[in-house]
Amino acid sequence: MSLETDTSIKEAAVKKPGTFQVRVENLDKTIEVNTASLPLGDTGKAGSILDILLHAGVEIDHACGGVCACATCHVYVKEGSETCPAAEEDENDMLDMAPDLKSNSRLACQCVPTGEKDIVVEIPSWNRNYAREGA
Ligand code: FES
Repeated sequence: MSLETDTSIKEAAVKKPGTFQVRVENLDKTIEVNTASLPLGDTGKAGSILDILLHAGVEIDHACGGVCACATCHVYVKEGSETCPAAEEDENDMLDMAPDLKSNSRLACQCVPTGEKDIVVEIPSWNRNYAREGA
């Protein structure tokens, strides 16, 4: 049995049904999400990355209040993006105005992961000074 196989067996064993993790890579923070508890708040789409981050005390910028009108909640989805439905036209239009756009850019308020896999996100460097963990 290879090391890779061993690792996937361990990961499968610790994943609880109805839960997934959102890891904010550049804040070294991992958030455990219970899909039965979504939405966690009322900002952004129900169960969106923004909803999850704000509930966990990660105060990422969200100038328009999560209604897809500012692009300040721009994040990079580095792993697990296959569990995020494709961006709709409104999100893509807003992303076109975001700085440092990459192929894995998403608006945190519009991106709703299914929870089938853990995801890893990065907050862009221009937003990183703003993003912080709440008390
Ligand atoms: S918070 Fe404004 S577009 Fe997401």
